[in-house]
Amino acid sequence: MIAISSFVVVWLAAAANAAVPKTGLGMRLLEKRDSAPHNFISAGPAPPSHVLNLRIGLTQNNFAGLEKALYDVSTPGNSKYGKHLSKEEVAAFVAPASETVSSVQAWLKSHNLTSVPFSTAGDWLAVNATVEQANTLLQAQFTNFTHADTGKQVVRTLSYSVPDNLHGLVQFVHPTTAFPTSMVSTKQSVSSRRSVVDTRSADAPVPDLCKIAVTPACLQQMYNIRRTFATEKSNTLAVTGYVGQFANQADLELFLELFRVDLDPSTNFTLVTLDGGENPQNLSEAGSAAGSDVQYTVGLASGVPVTFISVGEDVDETQGYLDTANYLLSLDNPPSVVNTDYGYGETDYPFSLGMALCSAYAQLGARGVSVIFPSGEEGVSGDQGTSCENFSATFPSSCPYVTSVGGTYGIPPESAYGNSGGGFSSWFAQPAYQANAVPPFLTALGNTYKGRFNASGRAFPDISATARNHETVYRGQQIMMSGTGTSSTVVTSIVALLNDELIAAGKSPLGFLNPFLYAHPEAFTDITSGNNGGCFTDGFNAAEGWDPVTGLGTPDYAKLRTAAGLS
Ligand SMILES: *[C@@H]1O[C@H](CO)[C@@H](O)[C@H](O)[C@H]1NC(C)=O
Ligand SMILES: *[C@@H]1O[C@H](CO)[C@@H](O)[C@H](O)[C@H]1NC(C)=O
Ligand SMILES: *[C@@H]1O[C@H](CO)[C@@H](O)[C@H](O)[C@H]1NC(C)=O
Ligand SMILES: *[C@@H]1O[C@H](CO)[C@@H](O)[C@H](O)[C@H]1NC(C)=O
Ligand SMILES: *[C@@H]1O[C@H](CO)[C@@H](O)[C@H](O)[C@H]1NC(C)=O
Ligand SMILES: *[C@@H]1O[C@H](CO)[C@@H](O)[C@H](O)[C@H]1NC(C)=O
Ligand SMILES: *[C@@H]1O[C@H](CO)[C@@H](O)[C@H](O)[C@H]1NC(C)=O
Repeated sequence: MIAISSFVVVWLAAAANAAVPKTGLGMRLLEKRDSAPHNFISAGPAPPSHVLNLRIGLTQNNFAGLEKALYDVSTPGNSKYGKHLSKEEVAAFVAPASETVSSVQAWLKSHNLTSVPFSTAGDWLAVNATVEQANTLLQAQFTNFTHADTGKQVVRTLSYSVPDNLHGLVQFVHPTTAFPTSMVSTKQSVSSRRSVVDTRSADAPVPDLCKIAVTPACLQQMYNIRRTFATEKSNTLAVTGYVGQFANQADLELFLELFRVDLDPSTNFTLVTLDGGENPQNLSEAGSAAGSDVQYTVGLASGVPVTFISVGEDVDETQGYLDTANYLLSLDNPPSVVNTDYGYGETDYPFSLGMALCSAYAQLGARGVSVIFPSGEEGVSGDQGTSCENFSATFPSSCPYVTSVGGTYGIPPESAYGNSGGGFSSWFAQPAYQANAVPPFLTALGNTYKGRFNASGRAFPDISATARNHETVYRGQQIMMSGTGTSSTVVTSIVALLNDELIAAGKSPLGFLNPFLYAHPEAFTDITSGNNGGCFTDGFNAAEGWDPVTGLGTPDYAKLRTAAGLS
């Protein structure tokens, strides 16, 4: 994550099972928590007339079918490889059964409420209800909570129920028991030092300068990245901005003048706004993470059109993530690769929302979109909010349908970046594509840390890239950004450039990457030194082959081209 680590605990009991007690006539508890997270203080009942924008997640008809289709189109050698699904084909798998929709609508109607479909497949409904209506509808007690540090107010309930006959049909209602996570800025390394204009040729040996300050030229040399311009305008790349992170055109222009003199410095990004997102261009509102995102996509994915998705500050990130995924799924021609800089400890993220988001990423993968997330900034601890008795995975990196990118530093031979998140999910089982790569690491590890992580979980990161001291222009000044969010941005640009070549050759874009990546470990430079400490341990060690610090290693563009069938 660039300049940001996530947290403020949001732990929520796993979705209720059949054994939950009845809470009233015909109603059954769906989710509850014992108390608000640390730091959220009750400020009394929410005003009855306050309007809640509720999202209701419905049970999907055939997620297993969607998952199979995803692996078919993403696994090299499968006869359907590259034959990505259309919007309608994906929707047909995940749409709820019509009886589900009619039962839920009848329930809402009995409370004088109406819903509108909120996702393309109709597996999400949006309903506006006053607190008074929602308290009755859901047998809830919506309450105002104030965050002790930020003063931010949210309206939530500690429990809610739905009618007996809707159990199994309604997955969850949001926002109810899931509190927003708040983010603090701790990882930024700012320096006002001036550095030289970097216009080295890609063929020269990687100079020591790249140890101190990483530039696009360093990355092109280290990872053999092509410098020629993209030609396929249909192939786009998207980066997302939350929590008031705005990308600034003047900063981008200065960055290109300093570090990509061969690119037109007025090259711009396209803007999309969601949930009232904004695009202030005052330098005083420029965001360092968003700046780094557009600078290392426009400035590295030479000529690939870049879209910046600015999500409004008034929705919490959990909802912002869902809205972003639903927006991308609604497009006929989605971007071929999407990068997001944020992440949370699995222990701190609401489980039911996590499941819904991971499902949305599977749908994007089936559409042919590579969904990329950084592996985190806290080593094996995953976040700062837990007791650290056990290691915590980072979500969404732990979702098996996204590509998780860890960090390295230095020039070849690189070492693991000490903060690189990595480990094993407690939520998701290990996917088949990891069946050969992960066991050798576990065998070598033996009983070390036994009981502190689940060795059967989805292992991450998948791959890695340099994470330290990326030259960035921020509010007109040169600073350096570090973090696995800088790594994931580099990988995003590499994927976009490969997709450009694939499309130019009449082939499909890479889509969901992981089965392809694990089938081609030879396309990565193995990282075998360093570790990712956390929870008062040294964490895991980088090792020969896959490891939970740097994954399969750092990309080699030329070898990836060959692996992708480009000659
Ligand atoms: C719904 O509206 C009708 C007519 O306005 C009213 O009689 C009824 O009490 C309302 N029901 C609820 C549950 O609010
Ligand atoms: C809910 O209210 C918002 C305004 O707050 C409006 O934009 C939206 O269309 C409404 N949704 C429904 C389902 O009525
Ligand atoms: C409760 O929260 C709502 C929504 O943020 C706000 O409009 C209202 O003023 C708050 N009321 C109290 C008593 O804090
Ligand atoms: C770049 O794009 C942004 C957002 O669309 C726009 O506000 C700005 O005017 C553009 N700048 C230039 C130089 O084209
Ligand atoms: C940003 O610029 C706009 C228009 O020039 C101005 O109205 C606004 O006050 C500025 N905001 C800040 C935070 O400087
Ligand atoms: C470990 O993960 C597997 C796969 O997700 C799961 O079946 C098992 O219950 C987990 N074990 C523990 C102790 O949590
Ligand atoms: C840590 O994991 C062990 C074994 O899976 C489990 O028994 C224990 O409750 C966990 N501790 C915490 C704090 O979650």
